[in-house]
Order: sequence, then structure tokens, then C-alpha cells
Amino acid sequence: VLADRYRHTRAATLALCAPLAVEDHVVQSMPDASPAKWHLGHTTWFFETFVLSRRAGHRPFDPRLGFLFNSYYEAVGARGARDARGLCSRPTVDEVHAYRRHVDARVLESIDALDAAVLVLGLAHEEQHQELLLTDLKHALSCNPLEPVYRAGLEVAPEGDAPPLRFVERRGGLVEIGDAGAGFAFDHERPRHRTFLTPHRLATRLVTAGEYQAFLDDGGYRRPELWLSDGWAARTAAGWQAPLYWARRSDGWWTFTLGGARRLSPAEPLAHVSYYEADAYARWAGARLPTEAEWECAASDGNCGTLSQLFGVRWQWTASPYVPYPGYRAPAGALGEYNGKFMCNQMVLRGSSTATPPGHARPSYRNFFPPAARWQMTGIRLAADA
Ligand SMILES: [Fe+2]
Repeated sequence: VLADRYRHTRAATLALCAPLAVEDHVVQSMPDASPAKWHLGHTTWFFETFVLSRRAGHRPFDPRLGFLFNSYYEAVGARGARDARGLCSRPTVDEVHAYRRHVDARVLESIDALDAAVLVLGLAHEEQHQELLLTDLKHALSCNPLEPVYRAGLEVAPEGDAPPLRFVERRGGLVEIGDAGAGFAFDHERPRHRTFLTPHRLATRLVTAGEYQAFLDDGGYRRPELWLSDGWAARTAAGWQAPLYWARRSDGWWTFTLGGARRLSPAEPLAHVSYYEADAYARWAGARLPTEAEWECAASDGNCGTLSQLFGVRWQWTASPYVPYPGYRAPAGALGEYNGKFMCNQMVLRGSSTATPPGHARPSYRNFFPPAARWQMTGIRLAADA
């Protein structure tokens, strides 16, 4: 079963790269975004480093690759600069594919003797990079004046109008959140613990592009009273006037998608806003962002059928800073660096997006990004005090 899952997940990464030209694999459009070739190599390096190299007699495929493909693991050794990944025209894409085939063969021939828990972590890690591969590629293609299409039919605008925005009442009181321990979860989803909610309301669907356009038209990007101080500074420094990928043309607003550039649809769920923009929009709308506990409670509630678009549409910014749950201890060793050391200056996002591999997320899943990040598929679900 594990071998099948391994083959399936590794093949899914290759399938995402199938529409790419060799040149598309190498471009790095900004420090946050990595080239597709780097994602192919790094996910392979993860299995070689944390699974294969733990076995006696392991010989690395190429000892130089650790420097290139180590992302942020201080305990594993030196690594190249993150913002210089696009400068590495070598190893070639073919050589990185050979690296993948080599590691896949070594894993599959000895899979019963390998650490299954770390293998499963490696598969979840590869799925995270599948999403990053798409969002990083989208940013790179958006910088190309030819507006290349990654794959036709992706991110198509919905037909018809969005349903009316409603709010459902949610009870307060003592609740439990966090992973209950049955299947795989990342370390930071645990321990399950009690937390207190005040009575609140949650929006039944996500904010649409049309609703966000009303915020723009009302001077949303010119009114500091709507923004956090850090947010106003970020908007000013970067010159934000609209969400990432929005462009005003003679016939209205357009957006860039993995399916190419197209007219923005007022009914489509808003995407590519920072936490700062989400927060300012919520204030303008007389609402607020949900806390991660409010979101998780609703998502794991069997009676939450009234809430739509929880998963598979947009990551939803929450008002919660990314901090450890009570009792959290990062695992010992290099893999303790996976999540724990990022618990400062980032905000939690809940749900999942159209770019998230099917089955990857769950109600207790905690995504996190710095508040100014806009290149992920991030949107807004409003909340309010009861
Ligand atoms: Fe990674």
C-alpha cells in the first residue's frame, strides 16, 4: 500500500511538469518562488536525506546535490541561497529526472525496511511542493509578456452569480481543536487541546472578486484607516492597488491564471490577497477574519453543511498568528525544523485551494505564510462577533 502511494505521489509531481518546456523549469521570478526543477530535486533530496541515508551503506547519488536541494534544514548542513535557485542551469532537468529515478528505485526496492512514518511525511511534503510548484510557476508565467498558458481549462470563471452572502450563528464555549491522532497529521496540528470560543458568525461562502471590487471602488487602497499599520506600510512600499494578477484594461479588470489571462468574473472567489488586504477588506465590510479555532470547529462540525467552499477553493486567512498549540514540542533532530522554527511573524490559513492535491488537507490542517504573501491561492471568509 505504501509503495503504491509512493509511486502515485511521485508520478503526480511529474504529471504537473508534463506541460512545461525545459526552459519553464529553470525560471525563478522572485525569492519566494522556486523553479520547477528545484521542486523536483528538493522533494527527491528529502527522501534521500531523511529516509535512504539513515540506512547503513547508503551512498549518495551525487554528494553535491545536498547543497543545492536542502531548503532550510540547518542540522543537515550548508545550502545555497534561496533567491539564487534560478541561477542553477546545472544539474540539467534531465539529470534531475535521473536523480528522481535513482532515489525512487532505491526507495521501492527496500520500502519494507524503511521508516514508514518518515516516508509518509515525505509524501505529504511532496504534496505541499506540488501546490508550490503550481503557484511558483503561475508567478513566473505572469511575468512573461506573452502570458503563456500552463494548461487550458484551469481556473475557469464560474457561470452565473454567486449565492447570496449569509452568516450562520455559531455557539461559544469550551471546544477542542487539533488532530485527534488517527491518521497522518503534521506535528503542529497537535496536541489536540481545549480552547474557548465566544459566540460568533461565519460567512457561508468566500468573498467574491466582485465584492472585493466594491472595496477597491470605495477607495479601499487609499484609506489608511482601514489598514493595519504594517499592512499600510506593505501596501505603500509595494505599490499595491489591487490583488496580485489583477490588471485594469480598457474593457475592465482582467486576471492572470494558470489557464492564461482572462476577464475577471465578479462571481469568482477572490484570490491572491495578502493577510493585510484580507484584514482591511474585513474591516471595510464591518466584519473580521475568523480565528483558526472558529474555522476548525465549524469545519469539523457534522452540522456545518450550511458552510460552503471550506476546502478546494481558496486558502482562507485567519486572524490567528502561527504559534504552537499548548504542549507542542518540535520533534528531535533535523525534522523538528519542518514546522516549529517558523512560529513567529506568520499567520495561519485554513482550508485548501484549487492547487492543493486532492486529499491533502483536513479540518485540523494549518497552513501558514507571512502576512504580506500574495502568490498563494489565498482568499477571504468573513466572520463577525455574534
Ligand atoms: Fe520542502
